[in-house]
Amino acid sequence: VNRGIGRRLAELFVERRHRVWGTSRTGDRPDGLAGCVHLELRSERSIIAAAETIGHETDAVDLLVNCAGADAGSYGVGDSGSGPFDVDRETFNAILDTNVTGPMLVTRHLLPLVRRGTNPVIVDVSSQMGSISRVPHPNDDCAYCASKAALNMVGVMSSAALRPAGIALVMLHPGWVATDMGGPSADLDLNTAASAIIETIGSLTMADTGRFIRWDGHDHPW
Ligand SMILES: NC(=O)c1ccc[n+]([C@@H]2O[C@H](COP(=O)([O-])OP(=O)(O)OC[C@H]3O[C@@H](n4cnc5c(N)ncnc54)[C@H](OP(=O)(O)O)[C@@H]3O)[C@@H](O)[C@H]2O)c1
Repeated sequence: VNRGIGRRLAELFVERRHRVWGTSRTGDRPDGLAGCVHLELRSERSIIAAAETIGHETDAVDLLVNCAGADAGSYGVGDSGSGPFDVDRETFNAILDTNVTGPMLVTRHLLPLVRRGTNPVIVDVSSQMGSISRVPHPNDDCAYCASKAALNMVGVMSSAALRPAGIALVMLHPGWVATDMGGPSADLDLNTAASAIIETIGSLTMADTGRFIRWDGHDHPW
């Protein structure tokens, strides 16, 4: 919640008087949170510690939003270094670790709290870049695209596993949003995107589980 879409979503949920726990690596956070815990997605120890801290403060989580993510730029790699024949092994694995393994483990370790939630919902923030049916551009960030496609597969499998427990899980493309990751020429400003996402999340039911949707609730092609 220290920056980007996660921060704005947290601010809007607080405005709507929800009890919100955020995570941050920097300690920076918006005002009004019920709590904010340190979380490094690339460390299972950190994920377990964050889940334990939240578990000491609440019995149940109604909504889990896996929002934090990274692209090649986050690891200092420019467009020319991020294609399938350019990206180095360390960067590729770091992006998969952050965008796939991390959220999967966050869901796993928060599941006891989510199971006790009211009409519980899990949202994995994915991307249109993970859509296999999209025609790729030569300069696309290969690890990022592959990671979001993998996140979608983990999400589909998780949604099937969680269906009997009445937990809905969707994958959500937030739009191309003006953040550090999206850059200044993005289609949507942060507030427009986050407000639409909150509206969409509020309307989700078990009928939506396993869907890949956009910020406005419409289906996104796989
Ligand atoms: N913006 C877009 O146009 C767009 C489009 C499609 C999908 N998305 C997805 O939307 C989500 C949010 O993106 P954004 O635009 O808000 O990005 P952003 O402004 O770059 O923020 C990324 C956030 O993720 C955190 N993060 C990165 N690596 C982490 C790690 N290893 N452990 C814990 N936290 C980590 C960052 O923390 P630090 O500040 O500590 O680095 C930061 O808070 C991501 O999943 C992204 O893939 C964004």
